[in-house]
Amino acid sequence: MSIVTQKSITYVNNTTTPTITTKEIDLDTCYNENEIVVKVHAASINPVDGLTHSTCNYYMGGSGLKTFGRDFSGEIIRRGKNVNVKWQLNSKVNGQFKHLWGEKGTFTNYFICNPEEVRSINTFEENNVSNKYNDYIINASWPLVFGTGYSALYEKGQVWTPESKILIIGASTSVALACVKIAKTILKIGTVVGICNSKAIEHNKEKGFDHLIAYNDPEHSTVESIQNLIKNELNGEKFDLIFDAVGNKDFFPVMDTVLKPKSTNSQYITIVGDEVMDFTNKSLFGNVSLGSFSRKLNPFRKFNYDFCMLDNLFTYMELGTTMIADGTYLPEIDSVHKFEDYQKAFDRVDSHFAKGKVVLDMSDI
Ligand SMILES: NC(=O)c1ccc[n+]([C@@H]2O[C@H](COP(=O)([O-])OP(=O)(O)OC[C@H]3O[C@@H](n4cnc5c(N)ncnc54)[C@H](OP(=O)(O)O)[C@@H]3O)[C@@H](O)[C@H]2O)c1
Repeated sequence: MSIVTQKSITYVNNTTTPTITTKEIDLDTCYNENEIVVKVHAASINPVDGLTHSTCNYYMGGSGLKTFGRDFSGEIIRRGKNVNVKWQLNSKVNGQFKHLWGEKGTFTNYFICNPEEVRSINTFEENNVSNKYNDYIINASWPLVFGTGYSALYEKGQVWTPESKILIIGASTSVALACVKIAKTILKIGTVVGICNSKAIEHNKEKGFDHLIAYNDPEHSTVESIQNLIKNELNGEKFDLIFDAVGNKDFFPVMDTVLKPKSTNSQYITIVGDEVMDFTNKSLFGNVSLGSFSRKLNPFRKFNYDFCMLDNLFTYMELGTTMIADGTYLPEIDSVHKFEDYQKAFDRVDSHFAKGKVVLDMSDI
């Protein structure tokens, strides 16, 4: 018998505060023949973690404990006899476990899962890719945001060339920082423009954006600045893709001045909707933007538009692992928190001020 204490960050519904709950488990019997046990070393927080808690009302959520968390990294310490040979004892793994209000989540020291059912999972080698953070912290931080940035570029079948042009609204978001790296390094897209706070412009330029526009410019509206950029810097050429990674509706009335014609398979994709989300809003539909739904369903709209959950292409784990290993992508880390300081970490994500990923270090629990 190998009895250990499983510690998890859990909630019941949006009237209960996140809490660390504990359970004694026997590591030799807690998994079935298709499952592995991962000793989690780090887990990163995504806005969706707060959103799933805040929208879980008493009636929808039931009375069971739900565990927070999607992104994780750790080490396989047990494996069932039917598990694919890819998943060996002592292998380092990372990935994203997609669930809604599930009993299992990744903010736990022992994550028991069937690797075939985890949203995305891969092995990684020790690389010491960062001089500040260990490989577990780095590899817990990217699966969901990298997968989302990747899907924005690949999901609509757009053909990318050095002449292609992309506009990313919310250039400082972790999703955008992954997207720009894939766009410039892998797809060799000629022009990637970002919209961010004026204070973030210098920083984001280093991340690969060709042009950055401030959304808080007192002289010009964001739309005016983008229209001027198209005229003065892009030879009048409009964008092939506008990717909204923050929540924005400014361009809808003037779409024909910024996005290429629909017939070219140009796309407007949002992963948020018309407004910046309030991740703590307790109403089930509090962040639902009706404009997005009616636009998505409108058969007469003049541009390609999608409002979606992006991360449906599972090939991103391989690419992310390769890019981390060869140094072409290093996820930005905002802050690392001890497991027991989870509330501080959640608050940081909810603030909208994080510059990169907020990660829980679980190596010593
Ligand atoms: N649908 C999906 O599949 C999916 C998947 C992943 C994420 N998401 C959503 O995508 C959004 C981004 O996620 P993330 O984890 O990448 O976020 P994040 O890293 O936490 O984003 C933080 C950044 O947002 C920027 N920001 C805040 N307000 C802004 C505004 N009004 N305009 C432009 N930028 C603003 C801030 O940069 P500045 O200093 O530049 O303001 C800040 O650094 C979230 O709403 C998340 O829920 C959706």
